[in-house]
Amino acid sequence: MIEFKDIYKSFGPKHVLRGVSLTVNTGEVFFVIGASGAGKSVLVKHLVGLLRPDSGQIILDGEDITSLTEKEFYPIRKRCAMVFQNATLFDSMTLLDNVALPIRKHKRVSVKEARRQAMEKLALVGMEGEALRYPADFGDGMRKKVAIARALTLDPEFVIFDEPTTNVDPISANMVDKLIRRLSDDHGVTSIVISHDLRSIFGIADRIAMIYQGNLLLDGTREDFKNSPNPIIQQFIQGQPEGPMEV
Ligand SMILES: Nc1ncnc2c1ncn2[C@@H]1O[C@H](COP(=O)(O)OP(=O)(O)O)[C@@H](O)[C@H]1O
Ligand SMILES: [Mg+2]
Repeated sequence: MIEFKDIYKSFGPKHVLRGVSLTVNTGEVFFVIGASGAGKSVLVKHLVGLLRPDSGQIILDGEDITSLTEKEFYPIRKRCAMVFQNATLFDSMTLLDNVALPIRKHKRVSVKEARRQAMEKLALVGMEGEALRYPADFGDGMRKKVAIARALTLDPEFVIFDEPTTNVDPISANMVDKLIRRLSDDHGVTSIVISHDLRSIFGIADRIAMIYQGNLLLDGTREDFKNSPNPIIQQFIQGQPEGPMEV
């Protein structure tokens, strides 16, 4: 379980997070939604120690990780993997070696063993048949799946997906959604998905938190969002250009 408690974060005069509290339960697919610039990426970066809050706490399975040192964050980053929005693969390496790279870096294993483990992760995302091909042979959706396989190499309990379907064609986006859902259902992975892709949100979210003007506007199920009387939420989830939402 991940708990964000009353998180405040400013950059100079810009108050990005103003007391955000939310809880992500183990095994669920939890979406963080909100307009571009709302502070979604800023929030999740606190979980892996890429940012530190001005105040508030981050609790991971009961352990307060807010004030850990950089070194103390290493094991946390193995437990919580992040798939960055612009995750890129090395063009000069096969898909297999791209995925084997973090295994080689973090585990004392032979090249052969690293490739064996990498193959397992490629199989998990349905790309094992393409292992010896190069990133340039594939479109964004396939490359995204390989980036996800790479994030899974150290068997993380928590995976943060930062806009996994942005700039991905609709069919590939659907594959990525299904993969995220399957990782949770079949492998017990807890996913935090940052997105404003309405199709993903209403397709696979167990729970959704919407951030607006530095605060949590609503935290609930898809039904809670559909039934919310809040006009800002309705504007967002219906994708209406006109409305009360200030962006
Ligand atoms: N390291 C940083 N330094 C200064 N401003 C930042 C930094 N990171 C994010 N911001 C600002 O914080 C706000 C929220 O950013 P972000 O969390 O990336 O938005 P989004 O919800 O689109 O992910 C933006 O206005 C952004 O410019
Ligand atoms: Mg972002």
